[in-house]
Amino acid sequence: MITILNDDFSQLNSFLHEKSFSRIFILVDENTHEYCLPVLLGNMETDLGFEILEIEAGEEMKNIQTANQLWEILTEMQADRKALVINLGGGVITDMGGFIASTYKRGIQFINIPTTLLSMCDASIGGKTGIDLMHYKNMVGTFAFPEQIFIYPKFLETLPFKELRSGFAEMLKHGLIADKAHWESLIQIHKLDVEAVVPHIQTSMDIKQDVVEKDFHERNIRKTLNFGHTIGHSVESLCLSQGNPILHGEAVAMGMICEAHLAFLENLISEEEAASVIENIQRYYPYLDISDFTDESITALLMNDKKNTDSKINFSLLTGIGSCTYDHQCSQENILKSLYFYRKLNNA
Ligand SMILES: NC(=O)c1ccc[n+]([C@@H]2O[C@H](COP(=O)([O-])OP(=O)(O)OC[C@H]3O[C@@H](n4cnc5c(N)ncnc54)[C@H](O)[C@@H]3O)[C@@H](O)[C@H]2O)c1
Ligand SMILES: [Zn+2]
Repeated sequence: MITILNDDFSQLNSFLHEKSFSRIFILVDENTHEYCLPVLLGNMETDLGFEILEIEAGEEMKNIQTANQLWEILTEMQADRKALVINLGGGVITDMGGFIASTYKRGIQFINIPTTLLSMCDASIGGKTGIDLMHYKNMVGTFAFPEQIFIYPKFLETLPFKELRSGFAEMLKHGLIADKAHWESLIQIHKLDVEAVVPHIQTSMDIKQDVVEKDFHERNIRKTLNFGHTIGHSVESLCLSQGNPILHGEAVAMGMICEAHLAFLENLISEEEAASVIENIQRYYPYLDISDFTDESITALLMNDKKNTDSKINFSLLTGIGSCTYDHQCSQENILKSLYFYRKLNNA
């Protein structure tokens, strides 16, 4: 269940009061420690004892070493099976905290209090937890639901602009795959800032929640959430491997542009629809330079995508603005054409 918190955090306090937890462990990174924890502690009313678990910020921390340290701390602090983990942070914290909570003593309860736009609209919802293994993202993890998700949009006020814009890509995606009206109200936003996005968070969360409820195990409709992510993930991985990491939403925005054009090439949407999607995404995201990457390096990564079956590359592609198909296999020729199309946008 997702609750938008009032300024006094009363719904969170009632939740803590009604359940009989033994103790609370609050997981933060250095930034959410500084910006969000004081707000949480200033409003949290409980008789329970609590401990703060802090990790460094960043995707590089989402690994088994950090998980191991956290399991050890929980053990040393004698966390029992009625302890509650509160994940206060972005997607790294909700993925990591959900993972360690769902495995410690075969699973203790946790709640998510997401503090980035990306984690509010996407990462904290849907019950996927996990860590990276070597340079493979989210390779090890569990399906585990938080007891509750509490959203406090004011946390976004300290979030750097690029992080806000990264999360906005997932909101645009939600509109494109499932809700034309949502897409149309998002593209009315001229100046991307907290005030402009906050009124649309609920709709984005509802879309994600709805898709996940229909297909928890990602056998069918949940795959539509991967729109923009097939090509996007390849480019994200290539940038990472070159030591130039880009934000997830920046890669997804680029991926959505390529895959919108691909949907046109595959006769799923009209040229006008593709152009309108692409032009609108370009309004928010600067061109991502992919000139260092060959077509072969990008397509080699596409072949490795977790979503593939029978050595075919499966795409989730728009069939209109607000609708999306999945397991669509594209010709190699069209995939290359979509990359060529993106490369040409640089000079347009
Ligand atoms: N489980 C899922 O379904 C799912 C879905 C999408 C993404 N993810 C995962 O989410 C992660 C990305 O999440 P993210 O973009 O939130 O990254 P993040 O958790 O790294 O947060 C981004 C940055 O913002 C900082 N920050 C967080 N809240 C802040 C605030 N209120 N004020 C100031 N700074 C703040 C963080 O310290 C960090 O430096 C990835 O690991 C990705 O794999 C998971
Ligand atoms: Zn994503």
